Amino acid sequence: MVELYRSILRPLLFRLDAEESHRLAFKAMRAANRLPLVKRAIARQCRYRHPSLICQRFGQRFPNPLGLAAGFDKNAELVTFWSACGFGFVELGTITAVPQPGNDKPRLFRLPADRALINRMGFNNDGAEVVAARLRKLSPIWPARPLPIGINIGKSKVAPLEAATDDYLASLRALVEFADYLVINVSSPNTPGLRELQQRDELERLLGALRPACRQTPLLVKIAPELNDEQLADVVELARAHGLDGIIATNTTTNRANLQTEEIELVGQVGGLSGRPLKERSLRVIATLYRLSKGELPIIGVGGLFDGNDAYDAIRAGASLVQLYTGFVYGGPLVVRQILKQLVARLRADGYEHIDEAIGVDAAESSESRSSSADL
Ligand SMILES: Cc1cc2nc3c(=O)[nH]c(=O)nc-3n(C[C@H](O)[C@H](O)[C@H](O)COP(=O)(O)O)c2cc1C
Repeated sequence: MVELYRSILRPLLFRLDAEESHRLAFKAMRAANRLPLVKRAIARQCRYRHPSLICQRFGQRFPNPLGLAAGFDKNAELVTFWSACGFGFVELGTITAVPQPGNDKPRLFRLPADRALINRMGFNNDGAEVVAARLRKLSPIWPARPLPIGINIGKSKVAPLEAATDDYLASLRALVEFADYLVINVSSPNTPGLRELQQRDELERLLGALRPACRQTPLLVKIAPELNDEQLADVVELARAHGLDGIIATNTTTNRANLQTEEIELVGQVGGLSGRPLKERSLRVIATLYRLSKGELPIIGVGGLFDGNDAYDAIRAGASLVQLYTGFVYGGPLVVRQILKQLVARLRADGYEHIDEAIGVDAAESSESRSSSADL
């Protein structure tokens, strides 16, 4: 099945414009989601359950630690499908208070030589009220959710930066009742000025207003891979001060260093780069956050994960949950099962009974080796 996707389906989809093939794949999944027998068959092929992977995070049960990253199901149209695909959780959004069409097309590009994507979608979404209505309709027919749902909110393009707090608050109020956790996205490179909200004073203002409005719902912030160590220390300090429940690291990067793709193909390709070239930077950010927070702040690791080894690296660096987007596009639906199986094999090989035992062990080892070399 994995080979079927990689040798037949992916080459066909990759002949089309990237956003068009996403639209077609989404349409096919929506059709499959309406047919119970088909959905059950998909679940049989894609799911992988193992006691080592079931975990408790933010007071919720996660059937496994691998989630679908924000941006894939922006409008909560396929919420009931992701569990059949084998994911342990899904993050919907980014959703903004004001519905918006996003940037002009084309705005999504593949870089196959780098196993990467560049996107400048610009938060195209139906808006918080419409998405809330969609989720409200779902509640009675889907009472016992098989997987936790994260909701990722961003600033509407029409809202000036000075009015960002009120704009985020409007989305939060519309959506909080449907979220098992909420994410403040301040790290997309495709909304002008958005990343400025990661600066200490701006972030402090935002968290100060949003945290109390969340009440019991866990609140996380999603950060960019470009933050330096000092900025990461600020984020951790603010997270502690405002009782944040975790950090998502990382969003896409604007860096284009060390790519295999010909430079000429990259001219004018403004946007966020995701996939393989992001992995090392994202791992470094995860490890730094883990060290700075002394392992006390849950980190969702995302960026360039394609297989179980990548996911295991992120967990060993300090992630307690992981997500993928680009790896799902390149690997197809069965990649989730494959990653989870590999993850269990790596845990076993290292003598761990449960995923929790592996979180941050690389960070711990590197600080141990630092202190033992300092002892010498
Ligand atoms: C086409 C596309 C759209 C995305 N949209 C969003 C978004 O709306 N909100 C968000 O927080 N992240 C968004 N992301 C970023 C992903 O959630 C993820 O952080 C990033 O792609 C790195 O993971 P990956 O290398 O597994 O793709 C998007 C990524 C892609 C490729």
